Amino acid sequence: MKKIIIAIDGYSSTGKSTVAKQLARALGYVYVDTGAMYRAVTLFAMRNNFIGKDFFQKEKLVESLKDIQLHFHFNAERGFAEMYLNGENVENEIRTMEVSNFVSQVAAVPEVRKKQVQQQHELGKEKGIVMDGRDIGTVVFPNAELKLFMTASAETRAQRRFEELQQKGEKVTYDEVLENVKSRDQIDTSRKDSPLIQATDAIVIDNSKMSLDEQFSKILQLAQQAIKNA
Ligand code: DC
Repeated sequence: MKKIIIAIDGYSSTGKSTVAKQLARALGYVYVDTGAMYRAVTLFAMRNNFIGKDFFQKEKLVESLKDIQLHFHFNAERGFAEMYLNGENVENEIRTMEVSNFVSQVAAVPEVRKKQVQQQHELGKEKGIVMDGRDIGTVVFPNAELKLFMTASAETRAQRRFEELQQKGEKVTYDEVLENVKSRDQIDTSRKDSPLIQATDAIVIDNSKMSLDEQFSKILQLAQQAIKNA
C-alpha cells in the first residue's frame, strides 16, 4: 500500500501529539513531534544561559546551532520516539512550564527553524510519517497528502494542560497555564517566519467538545481515505 505524509498542525495543547501517536501506531507509521525539536533547542539555550527571564542572546544561540544534535529514539515501553539532545534523553525535561515559557521565542528565530526543517525533510523522505507542529502543512511538507488543523478554545486547552502538569507534580496555577497558552498563540501566529496558519487545503478539527475516541475514529477514517486516494 502506498505510504503518505500526514501533517497535523494547530494551536498548542490541542492534543495534536496524542492523536498523532495513536494514528502512527494504527497505520504502522513513524511519528515525529516537531515541537519536541524546538523544545530541545530551547533547553539547550536555557542551560547555556542564552535565554532567561528578561534576556535572549539570539546571536549566541545561532552561533551554537552547530553544536546541537537532535535525534529521536523509539522507546518500546512508552510506544513512541523520545527526544535526545546531544545523546541525552531530554523527553521529560523539555515538557516543563519553564521550557514552555521560552520556546516560542526560540522557535521564532529563522536560523533555528531552517535547521529543524532540514532535519524534518530528512525524516519524512521515505513517507509513512505522521508529523505534528505549526508549519508542517504550510512550509515543511506543503504537498502532504493529508493535512489536519487542530483547534479548541484557549480555556479548554489550558484546562487540559493544567491537569497534565498537575499530574506530573508541577506547581502551577490554571491562570498561569492559560496565560502561557494565550501568549504562545500570540507569538506563534504573529511571527514573521512560518507563522501558525491554517493551510488552505487542511481539514479543521475543533475538538473542544469531542471525546478522544470520537476524534480518533474521525481522523483514522480521513487517513484511510487519503491513503486510498494516494
Ligand atoms: O507543540 P509544542 O507545544 O510542543 O510546541 C512547542 C513550541 O514550538 C510552540 O510554542 C511553537 C513551536 N513550534 C513551531 O514553531 N513549529 C513547529 N513545527 C512545532 C512547534
